[in-house]
Amino acid sequence: MEVVVCRDYQEMSKSAAAMVAQLLRRKPHAVLGLATGSTPLGLYKELIRLHKQEGLDFSQVTSFNLDEYVGLDPQHDQSYHYFMHENFFRHININLRQVHVPSGTAKDYGAFCQWYEQRIKECGGIDLQVLGIGSNGHIAFNEPLSSLQSRTRIKTLARQTIEDNARFFARREDVPIFAVTMGVGTIMEARRIVLLANGGAKAKAVAAAVEGPVSAMITASALQMHPDCTFYADDDAAAGLTMRDYYQWIQAHPPAAPTIQ
Ligand code: F6R
Repeated sequence: MEVVVCRDYQEMSKSAAAMVAQLLRRKPHAVLGLATGSTPLGLYKELIRLHKQEGLDFSQVTSFNLDEYVGLDPQHDQSYHYFMHENFFRHININLRQVHVPSGTAKDYGAFCQWYEQRIKECGGIDLQVLGIGSNGHIAFNEPLSSLQSRTRIKTLARQTIEDNARFFARREDVPIFAVTMGVGTIMEARRIVLLANGGAKAKAVAAAVEGPVSAMITASALQMHPDCTFYADDDAAAGLTMRDYYQWIQAHPPAAPTIQ
């Protein structure tokens, strides 16, 4: 895992956008894994800017979102379908037929989740997965004790997640208690992962995920086992990291084969 401590949210969003742009320039038909929530908004904003001002092309991109609330239809203003269209898809030239967001209104969730997994495989697997992190250390909606090999399925949201997400709903009681989510195992199959964390409310989760033991109690800790994961944290989110100096030292001295002088 590479840990990058950023000065602020803007720097973090721009660095992550540069990573996505670099991939799309090399592989225009890349498959992106996308997240919702407050964290990736700056990343989407920067990607929209790169599209509008620098011609970054999304026309051949396929995307898969991590999760959706059970019971919210795509028109609901708190559904993740709606979020993605409003904050990203409608501003870029992505082909909407190549966009996938889990269904929150499936008749048969078992069949739907199997189809979603199958569809990711048919599209060649995810090249780059964008993640946020919950204050309880979740990735997607893989709440504490989710199997680290889990696949797309329905999860019951933790009380902490419901509290955290209540800010988006008129009333706390309106927050759905179930979600369809990619599993930790699904996420771990992405070829590359970039996790973004900002704000002091994430500091404990970031420290546990990066420096704690790999544990199903903090599903983001599974990323320690991923061969190509970049973990971005802004100053506040990085506050609990004990090896912070070392991460910054590595950034200042990128690994290279030592040479004999
Ligand atoms: C959203 C998702 C969640 C969020 C996490 C952080 O698709 O998968 O894991 O990334 O709950 O949410 P924010 O960014 O709102 O703090």
